[in-house]
Amino acid sequence: MRLLVTGGAGFIGANFVHSTVREYPDDAVTVIDALTYAGRRESLAAVEDSIRLVEGDICDAELVDNLVAESDAVIHFAAESHVDNALDNPEPFLHTNVIGTFTILEAVRRHGVRLHHISTDEVYGDLALDEPQRFTEATPYNPSSPYSATKAGSDMLVRAWVRSYGVRATISNCSNNYGPYQHIEKFIPRQITNILTGRRAKLYGTGHNVRDWIHVEDHNSAVRRILEKGQIGRTYLISSEGERDNLTVLRTLLRLMDRDPDDFDHVTDRVGHDLRYAIDPSTLYNELGWAPKHTDFEEGLRSTIEWYRNNESWWRPIKDAAEAQYEKRGQ
Ligand code: NAD
Ligand code: TYD
Repeated sequence: MRLLVTGGAGFIGANFVHSTVREYPDDAVTVIDALTYAGRRESLAAVEDSIRLVEGDICDAELVDNLVAESDAVIHFAAESHVDNALDNPEPFLHTNVIGTFTILEAVRRHGVRLHHISTDEVYGDLALDEPQRFTEATPYNPSSPYSATKAGSDMLVRAWVRSYGVRATISNCSNNYGPYQHIEKFIPRQITNILTGRRAKLYGTGHNVRDWIHVEDHNSAVRRILEKGQIGRTYLISSEGERDNLTVLRTLLRLMDRDPDDFDHVTDRVGHDLRYAIDPSTLYNELGWAPKHTDFEEGLRSTIEWYRNNESWWRPIKDAAEAQYEKRGQ
């Protein structure tokens, strides 16, 4: 297959490109990435001779049209992805997540190319801490933040383009990812690199908020399965059923890094902070026979810590600026 991967220099996209080069050597991979603050050429250095990297904006209709025309499928990861940044300045989220997805949709419509759209469980809003319910494909959309609202908007556009124009698209909404190459503004790599640079870990509010953690390799193996076996027009929810509250995750990280369990600061909570995300992935398990491989969360965290230890040159140059940004917000 000739794959066009949008946002392939970001966290999940880069991991997808790495696993595709490794496991599907007959695929031809082109990445389009604007190389924003979140996209790093360095994340693709190990595979640079096996892929084509085009630096460009997914809102550039002419460029997108040309790249889509020469592809069999588009895997659409590109997005502005960080809730705290969206709260500070939502405009880039509208640009990339909404207009960017619209631009991709118009190109795949013109050329009849298969699309898989990557989305998030955050489109469903949040759940109470004490309710047994989890998100399913039937849960109504109820986004809370400018990030999740623009992702919800992009999902709606994809659904409308399927119904109105017969675009051959699938959607997946995944829970929180962790693993190598994740930007150090995000929860897990921020704490790891804080500890590695002699800073203290930072917990928003009480730390009772729950996230449903999945290793990025598992997210990407599910995406591949949906690309190959998914039913056009369908939405699939991806999770490895890894619900944990933030305080527990933080204390596990501190223990794995030989720190005292109380060696962290409580900092200003995020406004409108979603309480709990949790996905019921039965459809994916039962209909597509997918199962996650990284089911030992502690082992996944251990190898992620090792990755950040061994790849300081990847994150060190951006660490001080990322922390300065957080300091401005009191976080
Ligand atoms: P990321 O921020 O690490 O990477 C995003 C990439 O998109 C970057 O390489 C960036 O340069 C690129 N990009 C941004 N704007 C662009 C534009 N206008 N044109 C071209 N490229 C542009 O994000 P991520 O964590 O890898 O997330 C990838 C996708 O997965 C997103 O759609 C996100 O909503 C979704 N998702 C993420 C998670 C998670 O836990 N990280 C969970 C579920 C879903
Ligand atoms: P994040 O990685 O930003 O993902 P999301 O908000 O999209 O789920 O944050 C994960 C959780 O960790 C979220 O509840 C906010 C919290 N958090 C902290 O407690 N401290 C931090 O330094 C960061 C970045 C996040």
